[in-house]
Amino acid sequence: MQNIKDIYDLEINYLIEAVKHASNPYHTFVLSTINENFPETRTVVLRDVSISPFKIYFNADYRSNKVKELIENKNSSALFYDKDRKVQVRMKCTAIINFQNDISLKKWKGTALQSRKCYMGPYAPSTKLKDWHPNVPEEFIDSNPTLEKSQKGYDNFAHIELTVLELDILKLRYNGHIRFKVENEKIYHISP
Ligand SMILES: Cc1cc2nc3c(=O)[nH]c(=O)nc-3n(C[C@H](O)[C@H](O)[C@H](O)COP(=O)(O)O)c2cc1C
Repeated sequence: MQNIKDIYDLEINYLIEAVKHASNPYHTFVLSTINENFPETRTVVLRDVSISPFKIYFNADYRSNKVKELIENKNSSALFYDKDRKVQVRMKCTAIINFQNDISLKKWKGTALQSRKCYMGPYAPSTKLKDWHPNVPEEFIDSNPTLEKSQKGYDNFAHIELTVLELDILKLRYNGHIRFKVENEKIYHISP
């Protein structure tokens, strides 16, 4: 039987690796927020991981519903699944929105021109449209903005910090699944 601390350490390593490697299944995760009484879920890209305190990070348009929901209620949850290794990682989190501050500026400086384009949309995300529009400035649909023009995107750029309060890890195995929780620096088995 595998030691749960070893499984935990391995999964943390996979998460750290996933920031740089799009082929790693943990490169994207499903984020759930609370919209009044309804849960809302969507896929986002894992942009950073920090250990001690354990945090995960993603970028978003400040005008988006997810940011509005997190401002209203910072409680959220993150879900990762590695289909090949059959490991599910669930995280209970609280969010901090970094917007127009030193942290968001540092991240913006490291954001590629192609990604910066996503924050230059003339419409706030989820705006009802009469016709199709990719929500990037027309002149940059097929090209990237110059560094100078891309700065406009910073007006809408937010770097979201999720402090992980609790983890629930499930490893599926033909000879018996393993499930455990990590909270307050304690790690313990729970029934799968
Ligand atoms: C593979 C993939 C990665 C995505 N990454 C992000 C992301 O990092 N940040 C983000 O705000 N939206 C991302 N999206 C778009 C969201 O899933 C969502 O459609 C959009 O942000 C609107 O969500 P909201 O209305 O809940 O705010 C991604 C979508 C896909 C399919």
